[in-house]
Amino acid sequence: METLVKDKSQKQQSSSIDVLLQEGRKFPPSPEFKKQANVQDVSVYAKADQDPETFWAEWAARLEWMKPWKKVLDWNPPHAKWFVGGKINASVNCVDRHVHAGEGHVNRRNKAAIVWEGEPGDSRTLTYWDLYREVNCFANALKQLDVRKGDRVAIYLPMTPEAIIACLACARIGAVHSVVFGGFSAEALRDRIHDAQAKLVITADYGWRRGKQILLKNAVDDAIKDCPSVKHVVIVKRDGSSATTCHVKEGRDHWWHRLMQDAELVCEPAEMDAEDMLYILYTSGTTGKPKGIVHTTGGYLTGVYATTQWVFDLKEEDVFWCTADIGWVTGHSYVVYGPLASGATVFIYEGAPDWPEKDRFWKLIEKYGVTIFYTAPTAIRAFMKWGDEWPARANLSTLRLLGSVGEPINPEAWVWYQHHIGKGKCPVVDTWWQTETGSIMITPLPGITTTKPGSATKAFPGISAEVLDEMGHRIDVGGGYVAITKPWPAMLRTIYGDDERYVTQYWSKWKNNVYFPGDGVKRDEEGDFWFLGRVDDVMNVAGHRIGTMEVESALVDHHAVAEAAVVSRRHDVKGEAIVAFVTLREHAKKSSHLVQDLRDHVVKKIGALARPDEILFSADLPKTRSGKIMRRLLRDIAEGKALGDMTTLADPTVIEHLKQKYEEIEGS
Ligand code: WT7
Repeated sequence: METLVKDKSQKQQSSSIDVLLQEGRKFPPSPEFKKQANVQDVSVYAKADQDPETFWAEWAARLEWMKPWKKVLDWNPPHAKWFVGGKINASVNCVDRHVHAGEGHVNRRNKAAIVWEGEPGDSRTLTYWDLYREVNCFANALKQLDVRKGDRVAIYLPMTPEAIIACLACARIGAVHSVVFGGFSAEALRDRIHDAQAKLVITADYGWRRGKQILLKNAVDDAIKDCPSVKHVVIVKRDGSSATTCHVKEGRDHWWHRLMQDAELVCEPAEMDAEDMLYILYTSGTTGKPKGIVHTTGGYLTGVYATTQWVFDLKEEDVFWCTADIGWVTGHSYVVYGPLASGATVFIYEGAPDWPEKDRFWKLIEKYGVTIFYTAPTAIRAFMKWGDEWPARANLSTLRLLGSVGEPINPEAWVWYQHHIGKGKCPVVDTWWQTETGSIMITPLPGITTTKPGSATKAFPGISAEVLDEMGHRIDVGGGYVAITKPWPAMLRTIYGDDERYVTQYWSKWKNNVYFPGDGVKRDEEGDFWFLGRVDDVMNVAGHRIGTMEVESALVDHHAVAEAAVVSRRHDVKGEAIVAFVTLREHAKKSSHLVQDLRDHVVKKIGALARPDEILFSADLPKTRSGKIMRRLLRDIAEGKALGDMTTLADPTVIEHLKQKYEEIEGS
């Protein structure tokens, strides 16, 4: 494992550093932006650094608490408790406090909370009062279905207002939500429902994607055949006028709109401990089994609230559009909890960016007057490829700030984004963080940071980040691993049901009080961070995190497959593409039909996001004498590079043969 990690980090670092070293462009904040920015004074860094606990406590104090905390931080490495003894409810902070007049709160009762457009062009606006009513009502509906504080609820919905309402309704009664991205397959959904022992599933009959109906309820039906924990299913009817084809099981399945008709209007919010679980979100790691990342209430809200205000320079009049699906952490933190705790107007869109045309996003920005736009590098690279004419057709003059998240952004994409979308007047914030970190960790502050294309720049105030080498020595200038050296409020608390894995995965590379994110990074002379990608067996395909082992287990699950090794190679748009090397069983015959069948099998086991770009059959896989597959060499083949060190191979002819074969296929 150690050698693999090192190999990959060295490989990525040497190739990425070459590009980044040539990158000298700098973009200081414009005087106009700076003048109006939420943060204008660099002293915020030093102040937070001197006393991070006070810094975070000041942010927490701006939230609405039911009971004050007794102690800011209880740090028993690697376990942290923030705002100990404090009582708080997330839905109250995202909704109630905006509709209650007075007491220092802005009254946002009639302000748009959610502005939504569906892929076919249907739209809805919910004011904060509307959202308050819907959340209360649905919270009561959940109670009627016997959901209690601490119960887990799985959410498998398209990007519609109900996705947000469902999360907040769970939070209101103290149920723990586990949102599963609608692009995951029935089997992936089943595993997640099962791991969390969810009692109820919230889904829709379907959602729209590129003009097609994605039949979510059908997937739920398949998934819960093997999930005895699930007692009820709630179904959102995506389109009121159309006839529904989905199956409704009497007694178990309930239509959302029917429940809402019968539910009481007001639901008292549950008094939650700051450390009570708010949600579980599954993410991929280095094993075949996804990890249920646990986030709690008080610290998480504090982290997402602070970063929303400062990183996005949020103002009362902004229309904030984060394009992430609610199935990912970006959707949790910067569609739901951060912006709504801030009383922002959040825009959400259901469908694809190229439907019906490649200017859909730009038309939406124009139509709804979006001012802050936050998306992923893979999307930006797709826009670049589609051509400048698409954004040029729309009026994007309302935009005032752009964000990027999910993977390293190459300088070309950064500059294109700044020029063609931001028209040279919007700051670009490249924000580095993870499902595990809960909130943005390394990022510019748009009013004070001089940005550099490809660099996420500096740790957010109150966050301590460093570059360490294998042994844990600090590297001031140069490449290494990123490390977080102090606890922070939105940090994960554990892996659901597997605290041991929490400790070994994140807190055991160096000392047990230093967090290991698994990213390679370079630090320049000015102390800015340049992220280089993962150093473990986790891939980043189109901004989605997928473990090589997950795809391997999906492949070996197929009856024709004896063994599989999965690696990724660079891809112009997706960042990384999946390449699988497969050894077949005796009886199986290679064919293009089988390739298709294996691809479909991976889609069935995980979802379309994990579909391999290439599958190569091989009589053997390169192994060490102790029988370990050398993925490093397979990566060299997939990247079309010269093969690295082969001295530990059991049989060097295997790899030579594979390389030759791969090149033949590539060339044909
Ligand atoms: C991994 C986390 C954070 C929300 C979306 C992804 C990569 C994320 C950046 C960035 C370079 C980035 C890292 C990280 N990543 N943002 N701005 N620059 N890399 O969340 O699925 O938990 O993935 O995404 O490799 O470890 P996630």
